[in-house]
Amino acid sequence: MTEQKVAVVTGASRGIGKAIAMELARRGALVIVNYNGSREKAEEVKAQIEAEGNKAEIRQCNVADFKACEEMFQEIISTYGRVDILVNNAGITRDGLLMKMSEEDFDAVVDTNLKGAFNCIRFASRQMLKQRSGRIISLSSVVGVYGNAGQANYAASKAGIIGLTKACAKELASRHITVNAIAPGFIETEMTEVLSEKVKETAKAQIPFGTFGQPEDIAKTAAFLASDDARYITGQVICVDGGM
Ligand SMILES: NC(=O)c1ccc[n+]([C@@H]2O[C@H](COP(=O)([O-])OP(=O)(O)OC[C@H]3O[C@@H](n4cnc5c(N)ncnc54)[C@H](OP(=O)(O)O)[C@@H]3O)[C@@H](O)[C@H]2O)c1
Repeated sequence: MTEQKVAVVTGASRGIGKAIAMELARRGALVIVNYNGSREKAEEVKAQIEAEGNKAEIRQCNVADFKACEEMFQEIISTYGRVDILVNNAGITRDGLLMKMSEEDFDAVVDTNLKGAFNCIRFASRQMLKQRSGRIISLSSVVGVYGNAGQANYAASKAGIIGLTKACAKELASRHITVNAIAPGFIETEMTEVLSEKVKETAKAQIPFGTFGQPEDIAKTAAFLASDDARYITGQVICVDGGM
């Protein structure tokens, strides 16, 4: 049991999730660093958080697995007694043109990105309802707002996050649980590293700021939405995209 705020960040072994985990820990939360396959990286994130004098634990769970999510949240709640902040960050891409996209690639992306967020909200919000407070933040994308050729599966999952966010915000508001989404533009992580130079240049040309964003840009926004300062903001989608 802990008096400290408990934050669960899914997919926090690297990239944006790692930056969010580090920022929430700096602002006083005990952070649960969730990962699926990258155990060593998750352990490194925990070590980095502890090196800054803050608290973190790691938990393996495939967010696409409903039962596994239930078990993870049950265990977290029985260990720490609370869940104050949930950040649905875990996400994958399996890009391809519509005519060539397999059923498996569509399902994998929607199951991880959208159903994964539903699964975690489903079990975290049960505890937040008891606490009569909570912060839920999910990672959408500008692609979910505007669409993008070659990403029908990813765009559908990220647009779905927006609908999920708005519906849950309405359901949970009376218990002072806020539910918001962040729609990042192009952020420098392993997810965007794999794109070809040509794709990166085309993307950069669409960004009025002229540069890609950094994971910390998203982390600061998430930390604000998780803070008391954002207590009256719910059901919103905040684009953090350099003006796209
Ligand atoms: N980078 C961008 O430009 C950008 C733009 C818009 C939106 N976003 C969104 O922001 C989020 C983070 O992106 P990123 O660029 O930081 O990605 P990333 O570097 O590829 O990291 C993805 C993270 O998600 C985890 N993950 C993947 N599948 C999982 C599963 N089934 N269960 C639990 N964890 C899982 C990975 O952990 P394991 O390795 O352990 O599986 C990893 O920690 C994603 O939702 C992404 O769609 C990113």
